[in-house]
Amino acid sequence: MPHTEVAEGTLFYTLSRGPADGPTLVLVHGAGGSRLHWPGELRRLSNATVYTLDLPGHGRSEGHGCDTVNDYAKAVVAFLDAAGVERAAVVGHSMGGAIAQTMALGFGERVAGLVLVGSGARLRVTPAILEGIQSDFERVAELITRFAWSPDAPPALTELGRQAILETGPDVLLGDFTACNNFDVMERLAEIKAPALVVVGSADQLTPPKYTRFLADHIPNAQLVLIEDAGHMVMLEQPAEVAEAITTFLDSVK
Ligand code: COA
Repeated sequence: MPHTEVAEGTLFYTLSRGPADGPTLVLVHGAGGSRLHWPGELRRLSNATVYTLDLPGHGRSEGHGCDTVNDYAKAVVAFLDAAGVERAAVVGHSMGGAIAQTMALGFGERVAGLVLVGSGARLRVTPAILEGIQSDFERVAELITRFAWSPDAPPALTELGRQAILETGPDVLLGDFTACNNFDVMERLAEIKAPALVVVGSADQLTPPKYTRFLADHIPNAQLVLIEDAGHMVMLEQPAEVAEAITTFLDSVK
């Protein structure tokens, strides 16, 4: 399958083209992440055209990180404009899911579907993370790593995750977690018109399954998939299961 990497404006992304009549997806990573938080199974999902972004200030994208979810949502919409994508299913992990919900609420005509992976309608951040980022960044990177993966996750993968947080740096991470901490659309989910799939790992400690059940109960047209034995990084821990859940969802809303 053709797979190209190109910069559009200031955002770096990868593109995997599917059939002309297939769905278009945009994958949006979470706090302190990059496009590599999405496994190849999703970046190159069969029968779909998939754009996988590095948010501003993350990965290989230029620009500064933001400190509100709204600003990130505007950056993703600007990217869709620049790429000539009128409507897409927005797939967001954690803070990326907050960005996706914000797009569905503020730019509903651009959102053909929502896939919220390890996310929530409110994403308060524990003070142990928020307050330690500037005073002891390395300890916070370890703390997040401990919370983010299930006990069964391969140590090589969790170590790569820890290094990726360190590479993101404290300033961008603080902006991301500030954005998460101030995000709250719990009262607004009924306004979401797009069909939604919500996915969560049964062992997710950062956005526990309770958050996902709330999304499924309050978004008018939502399906829930619980992935056993996976933590917050569910798409890297159980890529085949997450890819299957998304493919089944896309088929059901065709
Ligand atoms: N969906 C459904 N329920 C939610 C929710 C969501 N997205 N966010 C919070 N709630 C619930 C809580 O479970 C709690 O319910 P309870 O009163 O029945 O126990 C209530 O709303 C209030 O929760 P919260 O606003 O989070 O305040 P808190 O003082 O209970 O806890 C934290 C604050 C930060 C310690 C807690 O939110 C937490 O542990 N968060 C997860 C860890 C983290 O940092 N995640 C990072 C996310 S990017």
